[in-house]
Amino acid sequence: MEKESRPKLKILFAASECAPFAKVGGLADMISSLSRSLSKLGHELRVVIPFYSTIDKSLHDFQFLGSACVHMGCKTEHWIGLYESSLDNHLRLWLIDYADYFHRRGIYDEPSGEYKDNAYRFGFFSKAVLEICKEMVWIPDVFHVHDWPTSVLCAFLKLWPQLLSPFKNSRSVLTIHNICYQGKYDAMVLPYLGIDWSLFSPDRFEDHGQVNLLKAGIAYSDFITTVSPTYAKEILEPSGGAGLSEFLKKRASELVGILNGVDTDSWNPKTDPWIACPFDATDLQGKQACKTALQEKLGLKKSLDIPIVSMVSRLHDQKGISLLIPVLPKALIQENFQFVLLGEGKKEYEDFFKSLSREFPGQVSANIGFSEELAHQIFAGSDFFLMPSFYEPCGLGQLYAQLYGTIPIARATGGIIDSVEDIRKDPKGSGFLFDEPSASALGELLKTALDCWKNRPDLIQAAQKNGMGKNFSWELAAKKYEEVYFKILPKKSS
Ligand code: ADP
Ligand code: GLC
Repeated sequence: MEKESRPKLKILFAASECAPFAKVGGLADMISSLSRSLSKLGHELRVVIPFYSTIDKSLHDFQFLGSACVHMGCKTEHWIGLYESSLDNHLRLWLIDYADYFHRRGIYDEPSGEYKDNAYRFGFFSKAVLEICKEMVWIPDVFHVHDWPTSVLCAFLKLWPQLLSPFKNSRSVLTIHNICYQGKYDAMVLPYLGIDWSLFSPDRFEDHGQVNLLKAGIAYSDFITTVSPTYAKEILEPSGGAGLSEFLKKRASELVGILNGVDTDSWNPKTDPWIACPFDATDLQGKQACKTALQEKLGLKKSLDIPIVSMVSRLHDQKGISLLIPVLPKALIQENFQFVLLGEGKKEYEDFFKSLSREFPGQVSANIGFSEELAHQIFAGSDFFLMPSFYEPCGLGQLYAQLYGTIPIARATGGIIDSVEDIRKDPKGSGFLFDEPSASALGELLKTALDCWKNRPDLIQAAQKNGMGKNFSWELAAKKYEEVYFKILPKKSS
């Protein structure tokens, strides 16, 4: 009874990515799934992202809602267009159109590296979110911002002249998806952001002579979350906090780790439209058909007896590719397995995988690029999923893999610890884990997993079934976020 009388909130998500409109990594999936789950709990949601010119206009409908003026510092004004589309028919997505900043080929980067004006682009976007709320007279109870691109919104919210502020009862939550990306830039952006130099201090915006946008978010948000309980502990340690652990510790009592979930409307082997044959835990025949289809599609030798080890990942240092480089060529000679990669990122990593596929034709398939469809087919058709991450705030790959009966071979870190147990130690386990971030530890584990494939089918089947039976429920996570929101909202006097 008590639950039913809980107030329905107006919640705004401000983010730089949202699947399927604009995706670089797991952030995009988290934004669309969590917002959907919160809206299913009865709350009124708006998700706001920049209107990147790369968004495919043929796949979605967009309605023009109007224009608005965004006031930045130094009396700079930008006119923006506001568009609306939808996630799931009923959940509204707002897109802020400003050509100078968002009509580009990439979201964060150009081929030569990060866009030089990212602090301006996303600082502007964060301010624009507030301006459109005012313009549309839609005042959220909670602004929920994600990572450095929108974290400065928390500061704008608190610094808005309070007497006149339409937002005086609004609160903000910052979710840290990856503390290693902080948005550190030249301090000369402050006047453009309209931030007074007096706030360029180590307890607010300043970090070793630069502006740190994530730090400002930590300072000004009303609550901080991150994407797994273990990562919440890791970022409070100097080894995991990327220079912000001491600062974050001051707010440790307002920090919580909530494990991401899986959107089973999009990631479900029983209903996935992209895979060759549907399957579930009670009948894995379909998975075998998916494996054959994958081998055929990628030009690998067709055989159900050869295990496929795969990886779908951004190719960045975080993901542990440097551990894999000394291991893979030797293992491909010594062990009988196929290797499939889908990913893009750092050129030296892309080159390594390309040369590996030239060296091992029919045994290695290196797919450099981004493809949602191929990602689903790889999760469905593989036997093992490799994730040797140095750190992993949550990680969605290992969640999807488990639900598709693909066994993670992964490093025990962050959200991987919270979502995979080692089948060698735990009968309920669904993966193989290694601790020490070294090539030798990874190499040994890969060998162990492949030995088990050959000699311990009982263990392999148990791991598969355990993984497929897991419930990575977004509903559960959404309820935890709801608790956070209720905790910080001003208590209404009745
Ligand atoms: P991160 O967000 O750090 O990149 P996650 O494991 O949380 O790591 O999420 C990665 C998401 O991005 C998964 O949905 C994965 O399938 C997807 N992904 C990564 N690289 C590619 C790619 N090249 N093509 C398609 N999907 C990809
Ligand atoms: C970040 C993290 C990843 C997490 C994702 C979604 O990209 O690197 O571990 O799963 O955000 O929260």
